[in-house]
Amino acid sequence: MTKMKEVGSMGLKMNEKDLRYKVYEGTEGERAIDISSLRKDTGCIAFDSGFVNTGVCSSNITFIDGEKGILRYRGYDVADLAKNCEFIEVVYLLIHGSLPTEGQKARYSNLLNSHSLIHEDMKEFFSHYPDHSHPMAILSAMVVSLSSFYPEMGENYKEDVDMKVTRLISKLRTIAAFSYKKSIGHPTIYPKHDLSYCENFLNMMFSSPVKEASYNDVMVSALNKLLIIHADHEQNCSASVVRSVGSAGANLYASISSGICALWGPLHGGANQQVIEMLEEIERDGGDVDKVIERAKDKNDPFRLMGFGHRVYKSYDPRATIAKKLCMEVIESTNNIDPLLDIAMKLEEKALEDPYFVDRGLYPNVDFYTGLTYREMGIPTDMFTVMFAIGRLPGWIAQWMELKDDPHGRIARPRQIYTGPTFRKVEPISKRN
Ligand code: CMC
Repeated sequence: MTKMKEVGSMGLKMNEKDLRYKVYEGTEGERAIDISSLRKDTGCIAFDSGFVNTGVCSSNITFIDGEKGILRYRGYDVADLAKNCEFIEVVYLLIHGSLPTEGQKARYSNLLNSHSLIHEDMKEFFSHYPDHSHPMAILSAMVVSLSSFYPEMGENYKEDVDMKVTRLISKLRTIAAFSYKKSIGHPTIYPKHDLSYCENFLNMMFSSPVKEASYNDVMVSALNKLLIIHADHEQNCSASVVRSVGSAGANLYASISSGICALWGPLHGGANQQVIEMLEEIERDGGDVDKVIERAKDKNDPFRLMGFGHRVYKSYDPRATIAKKLCMEVIESTNNIDPLLDIAMKLEEKALEDPYFVDRGLYPNVDFYTGLTYREMGIPTDMFTVMFAIGRLPGWIAQWMELKDDPHGRIARPRQIYTGPTFRKVEPISKRN
């Protein structure tokens, strides 16, 4: 594992004391000041709401340059991976650090197949959720339940790591499809060994005892690429939740389940569902995109343009470029013109020429076009964030494994500045106002 390199130090003068802090550099030239002794030296903590400027780990997995719009997994550009690999090759890359050979890929596919079923007792759980339960709620609960069915994951995770990891990757896809079938009250469809990872998912979603699933090769290829562009994104909200939970010693399933809950939030992965709901509202309202742009700019209105803006990217999100192209390809393959695509493109065009968005570096993010693509495949809106979770799973696992392998890893425990009441004594209840 490549470590950060010490490249110098930085001075700070405080209370007449000259303090020096080490400066480290990563392989792409990003620098960090090691302030781990700041409180001991100065009595102050670093205050950084939302972790805008705080690095919590060094990592060998994913590199992002938000200014230049670069995203690489283990050194490979995301567009290169999406063009030349299937999702399971990228899963292998994230977990093992290198792309698989043909033999390794074949073995990995076999492992994925052998773990695709879920315990029949777990299937029972689905029937006890109320109709129309959000599939993200079911997904996170099912994943944490896997800890009860496979408790050996808690200890020495390195033993049979491929078996443990593929089990989760394979089962998440089955759980996702089962949760959809539950939400529409249809019987579940089992995975098949003769189908690829993505085809299996589409088959479990769309076939039924009375009819074969209808999907085309363009959709299978687009799904592979969509999962690839979601596969990791370094220390985003859900990955840092997975790491935080894992740092307390929680098992893989519990950590991933927490990540799924974080992803559900509308400012994170839940934005893909919100984008379609926003476009549908614009359509109902007669297609007036200017009105929505004005609302997004109004500081007295909490509304935000969903699928726009990003903490790290201050240029076009490279994933959005790929997602937009995939969206066009899938629409062309179905010959089914979606009026929401037209609205989305108008909205993008208007926002990108508006000084509010230009000055703040707000561009379409990954969620802006993915929902339209899923919609075209027949995937319902409340499954969009589940699709994000299936894609992000290998990244969460890789982050969790890296955390476990870090000999200097410590429990995540941020500090705070307390602003509540100072010391006071409890009044007897009869004397309280
Ligand atoms: N619409 C309108 N204004 C926005 C938007 C937006 N979508 N995003 C940011 N801004 C404004 C914000 O009001 C602020 O303005 P000002 O400087 O005048 O106060 C400025 O841009 C900076 O925003 P911020 O909230 O400080 O930025 P952040 O890095 O904390 O938040 C974000 C990033 C993604 C949460 C935010 O851009 C947002 O809410 N976007 C909409 C939700 C969305 O699409 N989320 C998906 C993110 S990509 C997928 C993923 O990683 O999960």
